[in-house]
Amino acid sequence: MGKTFDIGLERLTGGSEFSIGSGITTKNQGTTKDKDGFVHAGTGIEASQLGGKRSASRGTFFLETFGCQMNDHDSEKVAGVLLSRGYQQVESPESASLILYNTCSIREKAAQKVFSRLGEFGLTPSDGRIIGVLGCVAQQEGKEIFRRAPWVSLVCGSASYSKLPELLEKVEAGNQRVTGLDTDTDETFETPVTRRDNPWRAYLTIIEGCDKACSYCVVPYTRGPERSRASDSILREVRQLADLGYSEVQLLGQTVNSYADPTARKMRFSELLLAVADAPGIRRVRFTTSHPSDFTQDIVDAIDAQPKLCNHVHLPVQSGSTKVLRAMQRTYTREEYLEKIAIIRSAKRPISITTDIIVGFPGETDEDLSETLSLLEAVKYDAMFSFKYSPRPHTPSLKMSDAIPEEEKSRRLGILQEKQREIQTARHSTMIGETFELLVGGKSRRENQWSGHTSCHRVINFSSQEQALLGKYVQVRVTGATPNGLSGEQAP
Ligand code: 5AD
Ligand code: SF4
Repeated sequence: MGKTFDIGLERLTGGSEFSIGSGITTKNQGTTKDKDGFVHAGTGIEASQLGGKRSASRGTFFLETFGCQMNDHDSEKVAGVLLSRGYQQVESPESASLILYNTCSIREKAAQKVFSRLGEFGLTPSDGRIIGVLGCVAQQEGKEIFRRAPWVSLVCGSASYSKLPELLEKVEAGNQRVTGLDTDTDETFETPVTRRDNPWRAYLTIIEGCDKACSYCVVPYTRGPERSRASDSILREVRQLADLGYSEVQLLGQTVNSYADPTARKMRFSELLLAVADAPGIRRVRFTTSHPSDFTQDIVDAIDAQPKLCNHVHLPVQSGSTKVLRAMQRTYTREEYLEKIAIIRSAKRPISITTDIIVGFPGETDEDLSETLSLLEAVKYDAMFSFKYSPRPHTPSLKMSDAIPEEEKSRRLGILQEKQREIQTARHSTMIGETFELLVGGKSRRENQWSGHTSCHRVINFSSQEQALLGKYVQVRVTGATPNGLSGEQAP
């Protein structure tokens, strides 16, 4: 479930398409294909295109990203740092002198991926290439990575990215074991050059780390404490992005609505949303991920007041049972969560609501699952991302008793997904005949077929006789619906 939504939490990205943001302009030229055969505009840029003073060419880098949008965006900034140091980006690890993996450790499967990658190329320290592990697995495993993969020379967690240039210098000087693993920083990762993947939609991190302490979650350990970026710096970057032709910005944070402006201005999150939307040239502003405890009426008031604020809220509930929520240390009850939903539902224009749910948390009973199912029925989510509980290192729930067997977790996940499927089938069938504004982001190999996403973050595949629609806003009438997707045609 969740495919109609363009949230991309589970996306595995390859870093093959890009544009430049943050004050440096390069227009997009090339194209890449995604797994559905849709073609997206992008460009292969070289350091020489960045303009300004650059160091001599240092070689080539390959950067593969796993996990969430925060990681995608961190990779865009890492790529910016490398390009400005004189590296060129390449599409395969075989042709790179520097190979970097930006990793995810939210669930065990995601964390394993990097070790299979590291084993894949039969790399040895003697083949001259520099291998680096970045992100959450780097933070979680630390120096253990050097033991498991002795050919790795750089291990750097996301809280240390602001030190990346220094760390790279050490690696370039021939150091074999370079680490950046501090999480006690109060800095955010800002860089003069960000190489953005999408030419029209820009990610922008406004808050890093997490101060919540959900008992299953490794993020507070891997990303460190919460650090909010100064509002004036955010707004400056938004204006630059608009000048560069980006029309949609997506504000990012693990708990984006816990934003606390560190400047004297002390902008509230809702005020920041409105100020971002005010930047000339910006047509859409979205934000993810919201934490229910910090979700307040003024956010909905802002969405009501400013049509540029997208009508979509991603509000992970994790479970419909207050007992399980307590064990998860989620800081709200089922009833309190439903009050937040009521605030969103009271908006003047309909707001899509999506969620994350974990099944099989230690001690979860059939009754708890029934409560989650009845919550789905009560909220009628537009999309759901669902996961089997995965025990993670350094988390409080690791030591909890009453673990649920893997098979039982799969059974519960199946029941949950079937329920959501019914809800989405019913919801989608009511959308036939409706017209949405889409930002066109992809072109199919099939003649006259395009895809784009709505303000409420649905992806719609549609047909149009027009050419050169990428990056444009078009009206699309929905003509077909499945549980997982909508299709349509461009409205006159
Ligand atoms: N096991 C399963 N799912 C998890 N998530 C976070 N930690 C775990 C875990 N240990 C899910 C939550 C979160 C989403 C990004 O990943 O649902 O909202
Ligand atoms: Fe993890 Fe909870 Fe923080 Fe989200 S709010 S990143 S689930 S600790």
